[in-house]
Parts: sequence; structure tokens; C-alpha cells
Amino acid sequence: MKDVIRIEGGRKLNGTVRVSGAKNATVALIPASILASGPVTIVGVPNISDVKSLSTILQELKVDVIQKGEDHLVIDPTHMENITLDHPAVTKLRASYYFMGALLGKYKKVKIRMSGGCYLGPRPIDLHLKGFEALGATVKYEQGYYTLEAKELVGTKIFLDFASVGATINILMAAVFAKGRTTIENAAKEPEIIDVVTLLNKMGAKIRGAGTNVITIDGVTELSGCFHEIIPDRIEAGTFIIIAAAAAEHMVVENIIPQHLEALLSKLQEMDVDMDVQVDRVTIRGGRQLKAIDVKTLPYPGLATDLQAPLTTLMTQAYGESTVTETIYPQRFKHCDELGKMGARIDVNMPSAVIHGPTKLYGVDVTATDLRCGASLVIAGLIGDGITTIDEVYHIDRGYDNLDGKLKNLGANIWRDQIEE
Ligand code: EPZ
Repeated sequence: MKDVIRIEGGRKLNGTVRVSGAKNATVALIPASILASGPVTIVGVPNISDVKSLSTILQELKVDVIQKGEDHLVIDPTHMENITLDHPAVTKLRASYYFMGALLGKYKKVKIRMSGGCYLGPRPIDLHLKGFEALGATVKYEQGYYTLEAKELVGTKIFLDFASVGATINILMAAVFAKGRTTIENAAKEPEIIDVVTLLNKMGAKIRGAGTNVITIDGVTELSGCFHEIIPDRIEAGTFIIIAAAAAEHMVVENIIPQHLEALLSKLQEMDVDMDVQVDRVTIRGGRQLKAIDVKTLPYPGLATDLQAPLTTLMTQAYGESTVTETIYPQRFKHCDELGKMGARIDVNMPSAVIHGPTKLYGVDVTATDLRCGASLVIAGLIGDGITTIDEVYHIDRGYDNLDGKLKNLGANIWRDQIEE
């Protein structure tokens, strides 16, 4: 048996929703914690299946993981062992590759099976491996396993061909104990990188420049445990702000950092969405006619590729022709086929799509092909006429903490049923 999510569309949403801790920070903070010689307490941990997968991997490494309260994790690597990581949990999420940088940094050796995650088109890790090799590691790939090994790790200058989030974080974790200074140029600037660096510096690392395109890491000999609170999830926040623009009468999205959402907020203002932005929340009122817009996804602080699918659903309700151009994942348009089944009129010509609006959407059976596609279908279900059934909802549960529960509290008619696998 497996879950499907069902939504009866047409209900106007009202109320306040509180955003959880950032998934894309959490999935890096947990592996980074093993670099400490003592317990690391992390609060604001979202209740998502990626965290469960990472905790399973930590237990494989004999790291003690204690869940305290609903969003506290205490991670104690005091007695950990550097075993080969071949547990199936490793293939459940792409971010398990962060154990490469963490274990290489800590032990100068790691053997791990290839990680998995959402299919968004090719997702190589060449930039990660190039960084590890620059630090002095040898890289072997045999029968689905990577083996990285280094006699010693020596700081050096690394230029990233693309401002990759994963490569930036992975390389800086491998460099924290390296001899001398490592400089990462053309580093990614996402807020999640700043959060990981905040944790590592609390542990005693010497990292400067996070949030800019040049990050320097001066190697140290030991890192200690610490306490850390995760930043709010800007992608969950953006998803709920888009949900409000599509389906709310009056909605408040709280526990956000507006600076992390500037690109999205300016695009929604262009659409003439009725919203007030305050220091840690946004209030959105429905009822206005939305204008068509053109968007292009870019590395931070540009418009996040993870908000492209949810925003595409909103654009089906705007008056006129909107265009989307994907510069991060050129093939990230699978949600358009599913939205088309619901009545959307979208012409996809990768890496772009033209969305004709406004179009009436109808509740039908659709499939979540990845995490953010799932979110875009939930939004479509909220505004569609009739009942939408969303299959493969495990994608949604990987990255959104209690999405349907939060929507139910806002007045949505949304529930889960079990169907045959
Ligand atoms: C992170 O993935 C996020 N995941 C993604 O969110 C997000 O879409 C992406 O950053 C871009 O913002 C996590 O943080 C766990 P990249 P990541 O390395 O690190 C190419 C979600 O929905 N590339 O910045 O894998 C790559 O193919 C997920 O929450 C290389 O060519 O993204 C892609 O085209 C989906 N070689 C582009 O760079 C490399 O070695 C962006 O990748 C690495 C990346």
C-alpha cells in the first residue's frame, strides 16, 4: 500500500502558517556534525524523510543520534567508525554525498555508494571530485562506489566552473582540517552555505567569506561540539507564499527571512500580488487579477530553481503569456505535463516554457515526479475544480514538513488515502 494525497479544490485559505527549518541546510548540517569531536545539538530540524535517511546513515557510522523534542537532534560522533557506506538509505537522497567531504576531511578516506535523489536531468558531481583531488585526494569509482583517499590534505586554490551549492559545501568540509589555506573561487552564495559555515565556525573552524563568491578555509586540528539553530526554509516559505497568492483570502507566512526571498517577492509584486512584507513574515490577500511575467532561474540571489515549478502553477492563473527559463536544470519541466492533464496550457521548449493564462484547472489523477513538482501539483489541486489525486507523494514527504497538515489548518480540504502499490 502507498499514500496518495487528495485535494478538493476551490476552498479559500485563511490563517497563519509557520515555516520549518531549511531542508537544504539540514541535509548538509547533519553530515557536517561528524567533524566534531563531541556532541552537536541542532534545533529547528524539519520532520522530513531526508532527515530519517541521514540519521540511518549516521547510525551506520556508529554516531549516536538522539531525537529530543520534535525538532531537536543531538549528534554525538565521539565513538564513530569510518565504515563503507553502502546502506540503501545512501541512495535515497543526493545530499548523502556530503558524507564524502565530511569523512574525507575527518579520516582522509571514504568509501560510499553513489547517492540518489530527484531526477532533474543529469546531476554530475565532477566539481566536487575536482575539489577533493585539488586538496590531494585520489578518486576511484568502481561498481557504483566512490573511494576517496589522501595521504594528507593540503590547502589550495579551487575555482568552480559553476557556482555549485553541493560542491561548495562538500569542498569546504573536506578542507577544514587541511594544512594551510584553501580558497574556493566562484563559490555558491546560497543562505544554506552560510548556515553550514556558521555551524563549522561555532565548532572552531576558520572559514571566511560564506555568502560571497570567494570562501577561504584555514585548516585547524580539531573541532568541538556546539549548539546550532537552523535557518528557516526559504523554499518552503516561497512555496507557501505562492500558495497564498493562488488560493488565499488572507494568509500570513511566518518565520521567514525576507532577504532570502527577494527575487521571488519582486516577481510576485510584478504579478500584482497583494502582499505586505514584514521583518519575519509576509501577509498575502487574494482577490486581485494577476499579471503574466517572465522569469529566469539563477544561482542565489537570483530566482531559485526550486521555486520554478510552484511559480509555474501560479502563472497558469495570470492574465497573458508568461515565460520561464531554467538556467540551472534545463530539463526541470516534468511538472508541465502533469499540469497539462489538469487543463494548463504550457508550451515547453527546453530550457524554456510559455504559460498561457488564465486557464481553468480541473481535478484529475496526477503524479509527483520530484519534490517541487509535487508542490506545484498541490497548488494546482487547491485551485482546481473537483478532486485532484497526487501519486508518488514520497517525493513531497522528503522535503516538506507536514505540508498537508499545514494546509488543512489553513482551511484546505486535503487528505491522504492508501492505494495498492
Ligand atoms: C542544491 O542541489 C539543492 N539541493 C537543490 O534543491 C537545488 O535545486 C540546487 O542546489 C540549486 O540551487 C540540496 O541543497 C540538497 P548544484 P545541488 O550543485 O547542490 C551542475 C530541492 O528541490 N553541477 O548547485 O546538487 C548540476 O548538474 C533540490 O530541494 C555540475 O555540473 O545543485 C546543475 O545543473 C533539487 N557538476 C547545477 O550545477 C557538479 O559537480 C546546479 O547544481 C555539481 C553540479
